[in-house]
Amino acid sequence: MSEIQKAQVQAQFGASAQDYVTSAGHAAGLDLERLIAWGRRRAAPRVLDVATGGGHTALAFAGFTPVVIATDLTLPMLEAARGFIRGKGVANVHFLESDVEALPFEDASFGVVTCRTAAHHFPAILTALKEVARVLKPGGSLLVQDILGHEDREMAAFILEVEKRRDPSHVRSLPQREWVAFLKAAGLTVIDEGMLSKVRKWDEWTERMRMSAEATADLERHVLEAPARCRDAFGFKVEHGRIESFTDRMILLRADKD
Ligand SMILES: C[S@@+](CC[C@H](N)C(=O)[O-])C[C@H]1O[C@@H](n2cnc3c(N)ncnc32)[C@H](O)[C@@H]1O
Repeated sequence: MSEIQKAQVQAQFGASAQDYVTSAGHAAGLDLERLIAWGRRRAAPRVLDVATGGGHTALAFAGFTPVVIATDLTLPMLEAARGFIRGKGVANVHFLESDVEALPFEDASFGVVTCRTAAHHFPAILTALKEVARVLKPGGSLLVQDILGHEDREMAAFILEVEKRRDPSHVRSLPQREWVAFLKAAGLTVIDEGMLSKVRKWDEWTERMRMSAEATADLERHVLEAPARCRDAFGFKVEHGRIESFTDRMILLRADKD
């Protein structure tokens, strides 16, 4: 990962670390429940949660896993997650600053690796997935959830522009076919998958990334002036000329190491 890209992620997430801890959409949801259900079935003694953010996935897995290691590229994020998890009286989550592209673990160290709402920030997804595969035991599972990329070029370009204006560290959301291909190239086979919708409240979504009032107004104008088919593809709800919400689709994948 280039130093510039790293700095961009750290700047974006460092400034809003506490907001990720308190975000209701990260704290719970059907997507997290699905990851937990997969994780419980695997019953791994050691789980690695990469790009832990506010720590919600690590906390959930700590409820049924002896040891959880939570890693993230952004130190203030890890500190916020540590404060949040320790505040709950949970002591079996350990925190480590690290880039997903260079995990500081031996080969075959974990039965399960989780990665929730983060892969769209990884500039070299294949490198990241190969690194995850390296630290997984043979037969171990990557449990991943991310924003689903659109197959249609126009729609994909529209939402990428919206995402990047809100958060310059957003790289790209992959469509299902690309996910399966990248996982396969990393030595991981998809065993189970699912899709879910998630409604994003516009004000909360833009405020969490600390956009200026001017940048938010520009982005809103950009969306409102886009072709209606683009807004419709993401379920944008507009009331009295103001955006209220839109809907992301999430992909969930369990992929096992060959
Ligand atoms: C939306 S948050 C993750 C949410 C969290 N997984 C959860 O379940 O609530 C995205 C996180 O990805 C981290 N991140 C982005 N690029 C990364 C990389 N290359 N390596 C590790 N962490 C990264 C950011 O620092 C940020 O904390």
